[in-house]
Amino acid sequence: WLARAPYIKAINDLKAEKDAVVLAHNYMTPDIYHGVADIVGDSLQLAIEATKVKQSTIIQGGVHFMAETSKILSPEKTVLIPDRKAGCSLAESITAADIEMMRAQYPGAKVVSYVNTTAEVKAASDICCTSSNAAKIVDAQEGDLVIMTPDGHLAQNVAKQTKKKIVYWEGACMVHIEFKADELREYRKYEPDALIIGHPECPTDVIDECDFSGSTAGMIDYVRKNKPEKVLLITECSMGSNIANEVPEVNFLGPCNLCPHMQKITLENILWSLHTGEGAVEVEEKLAAKARLAVQRMIDLK
Ligand code: 13P
Ligand code: SF4
Repeated sequence: WLARAPYIKAINDLKAEKDAVVLAHNYMTPDIYHGVADIVGDSLQLAIEATKVKQSTIIQGGVHFMAETSKILSPEKTVLIPDRKAGCSLAESITAADIEMMRAQYPGAKVVSYVNTTAEVKAASDICCTSSNAAKIVDAQEGDLVIMTPDGHLAQNVAKQTKKKIVYWEGACMVHIEFKADELREYRKYEPDALIIGHPECPTDVIDECDFSGSTAGMIDYVRKNKPEKVLLITECSMGSNIANEVPEVNFLGPCNLCPHMQKITLENILWSLHTGEGAVEVEEKLAAKARLAVQRMIDLK
């Protein structure tokens, strides 16, 4: 932390000078999360905040689709992503042409796309969702059949919470598919008192082993409220590190899976981006307008 202090100070000074705000996802490393973030949250919270911030520049502590979502919602602002290569296995798994193919296969069915998608895919969809509102968004769609993209695991987990029939694209989060149900069963044997909390991007058999499942913000709230003596967070492991100080009575057990894309964002490249203006995200307005419709419909339903 001492070595990080000069970066933290430089970023915070430059933020004030450049009228900038840092929106950081819950998976950012603790130096970013605690040192320079102005607002932290899950994907839905960050999207909502992007519509409200007063500063003229947003620095996205997160991956490219999050910065693109901020730009779509606040086109008049400068949105900077400190590393353009911070992608997402889900966003990369599907194109707008794939959405059209699914529409042709299931005529009339509404397309609900996870925010973990490019602007083109959002624009081709009827509405977006995040892990915190997916079941609610699916329930709100007309018709008995809903197309969910691109996360096949999220779709299967949502299918257990709704009466709608769901057909889905078979994309996956490269971090959450690494968790295995038999590993969790092993953990239970050795740590029978530990609470297991999983993100819905995990396969359904993993979620079946969990005591609670929710978005990153939902998981944090659950730990804050219940203060379990021992907890296993079945998600990107920066999450546990970020909230450990807040709940000293809670013991965070392994395993640790990091998202290589989220990890690309560092104090160094945040400072560089803020200093030089490098990493500005642009979305052509005609495309942004269509994508905005899908994101705004979600925000309106929350
Ligand atoms: P949430 O923060 O919306 O739960 O999403 C998790 C995620 O995978 C972000 O990349
Ligand atoms: Fe994408 Fe998974 Fe990384 Fe989130 S954790 S950015 S869903 S690859």
